[in-house]
Amino acid sequence: MLINRASDIPSSEITSEGIYHNRREFIKTASAAVAAAATGLLLPACTEAAAPQLPGKQPGKYDTNEKMTPYEDVTTYNNFYEFGTGKDEPAKLSRSFKPLPWTVAVEGLVKKPAVYAYDDLIKGLTMEDRVYRMRCVEAWSMVIPWLGFPLADLIKKLEPLPSAKYVEFTTLNAPDRMPGQRPSFFGGGLKWPYVEGLRMDEAMNPLTLLATGLYGKALPNQNGAPIRLVTPWKYGFKGIKSIVKIRFVDKEPGNTWKLTGPSEYGFFANVNPTVDHPRWSQASERRLGEFLKRKTLMFNGYAEQVAQMYSGMDLRKNY
Ligand code: MTE
Repeated sequence: MLINRASDIPSSEITSEGIYHNRREFIKTASAAVAAAATGLLLPACTEAAAPQLPGKQPGKYDTNEKMTPYEDVTTYNNFYEFGTGKDEPAKLSRSFKPLPWTVAVEGLVKKPAVYAYDDLIKGLTMEDRVYRMRCVEAWSMVIPWLGFPLADLIKKLEPLPSAKYVEFTTLNAPDRMPGQRPSFFGGGLKWPYVEGLRMDEAMNPLTLLATGLYGKALPNQNGAPIRLVTPWKYGFKGIKSIVKIRFVDKEPGNTWKLTGPSEYGFFANVNPTVDHPRWSQASERRLGEFLKRKTLMFNGYAEQVAQMYSGMDLRKNY
C-alpha cells in the first residue's frame, strides 16, 4: 500500500509460493525465538509462543470456522510502518520494543477523560477469543483468533457525551522506540502519528474489538502491542495498532491512509469487492498460505452484523 509505488499490487502483494514455503521452513525453526523475543516480557514461558492453539474453545456467535492462519504467518507477515514497510520488518524491528508500562489518554467529549494506566483502562472488561476473517486492502487475507474485549464495553465505561459522534484513535509517536518513524526511514510516506477513526455506531458495533492478544497470548509487538483496534468488516488499515489516545469528537476525524492518499483511501474502508482500488481490483483475495484466490465478500462476510449501519449510504462514494 506504499503510496508512491509505481507498480500495481498483484505481483508484490504476497510472497511467491516458492519463497513462501522456503520461508516457512526457516520460520519453523526461528519462530519460537522470534515470537519469544517479541513478546518475552508478556509471556509466562517463551517457548509456548511457537504454535499456540485454542484448546477447548467453543465457536462463538461471531466466530468464523474457517481454518486459522498459522501463528507464525500472523506474526511475521505484517503491516506496521512504524517498524518498517517490508512485511517481514515489523517482527524483526520491533523485537526490542517494550510495550509495558503503557498509558492511554482518553480525551474530548467524554465524562471520564484521564490518562489511564493500561491495567486501569481494561479493568473490569471481559476478554473474549474471537476468530475473525481479516482482509487487507492489498488483497490478501488471514483468519486470526483475537483475544480482546468489545470496544463498546470500554466506551460505556468512559461515558461519552451525547455530542460525541466519532471516536479517534492515535498510535504512539516515539521515533526512539519505533525506527520506522525516524526521518532516515522512508516510512511509506506516512505522517506520524498514525491516526484512525470510527463513527460512534461502528465503534459500538458488537464486532468491534480492542485486541490485547491473539491465539490466546499477549499481542506480539508487530501486531500492535499492547492494544489495537480490530474491525473485521473493514480493510486492515482501520486496525490501528499500539493505541495511546482515544478521543471522542463531533466531526469525522482524519485517518492516516486517507490523509496520505485521499484518491486511494477513504474513511469508511468497508470491504467492498465492487469498488476497485484505483491501482488494483478488490474482487478477490489470497488467503495467506493458500495458492488459489478466493472471491472477496461484501463487508468481508459480516453483512448480517454491519450492513444496517450503512443503509441509505452510497458505498461506492463513501468508500
Ligand atoms: N497501525 C499502525 N499504527 N501503523 C500501521 O502501519 N498498518 C495497518 C494496520 N494498523 C498499520 C496499523 C494495516 S495497512 C494493516 S493491513 C494492519 O494493521 C495489519 O495488521 P497485522 O499486521 O496485525 O495483520
